[in-house]
Amino acid sequence: MNALERAQALLAEVEQAELLTAEQAEAFRLRFLGSKNQLKELMALLKTLPTEERKQLGHLVNVVKQLAEEKYRAAQQRFSPKVQASLPADITRPGWPYMPGSRHPVAIVRDQIIDIFLRLGFALADGPEIEDDWHNFTALNMPEDHPARDMTDTFYLSRNPDLMLRSQTSNVQIRIMERQQPPIRIIAAGRVYRNETITYKAHVFFHQIEGLYVDEAVSFANLKQTILYFVDEFFGADYECRIRPSYFPFTEISAEVDIRRKGTERWLEIMGCGMVHPEVLRNCKIDPDRYSGFAFGMGIERPAMLKYGITDIRILYENDLRFLRQFISA
Ligand code: DAH
Repeated sequence: MNALERAQALLAEVEQAELLTAEQAEAFRLRFLGSKNQLKELMALLKTLPTEERKQLGHLVNVVKQLAEEKYRAAQQRFSPKVQASLPADITRPGWPYMPGSRHPVAIVRDQIIDIFLRLGFALADGPEIEDDWHNFTALNMPEDHPARDMTDTFYLSRNPDLMLRSQTSNVQIRIMERQQPPIRIIAAGRVYRNETITYKAHVFFHQIEGLYVDEAVSFANLKQTILYFVDEFFGADYECRIRPSYFPFTEISAEVDIRRKGTERWLEIMGCGMVHPEVLRNCKIDPDRYSGFAFGMGIERPAMLKYGITDIRILYENDLRFLRQFISA
């Protein structure tokens, strides 16, 4: 590259330089305006050139120098705290630096699970997180003295009337059945709260997905097939599942679903389910002689942790950017 070409390259560099931080501005100053700047070298060459080229180079070097000075001055102004404070806020200025947000792993997995059930014809439903005794407990076949109430430690907001943070998304079942007669086929996701000791595997809130299907002649076979389809879709061919008898007050018969990676030993429980208890239907003014239904409920954290190899539930809720940024492209 001859001297003229080098000057042109420097001009392009100055034109394109983006001085977006004070550090960038300082690096720019050193390169183009400092005591050992690039232009000086070119100036030193001037003497050695024939007149015509000397003129051209001299002119170009001046242009570069002026532009660099202007740019640097403008940047300096921008970074001076005084100038910053006196500027009117430009509400039309695009935000910078661009920090693409990331989706939370629990939200990612929630949507994946919901998608599977939407494909099966379930509709999205919702219910409140602050709930009364009827919807969180009593209508779900847990009257006041029912021992199942001790299965979870509930956060109460007030007594008499009792208001609480819901301990399960099963409240949505009641909310929906109270205002709609079958056929009902809904899926609901949301946060639930329990007064637990916080450890690597338990938190005072977590997320659940609830499913409910009520119609004429809904059978346990329908439930089983739905679960098998879900496990296959979500966990894939590397996993197998088993359905074993269990107990929930709002289902009869009740079951729990475990999964495990094929070829390994340990089963991991992922959901509770069963046939909606006739008493629950009756509580919602749905005739149990005509209709039957199945319901299921599962946590979202556990599959999310399994999927992303997370071993401590607490990290999900610390809002540590180093953790959250890992999901930018997920
Ligand atoms: N609500 C239960 C829990 O929080 C989970 C559950 C079990 C939901 C069985 C259901 C069900 O709908 O049928 O542990």
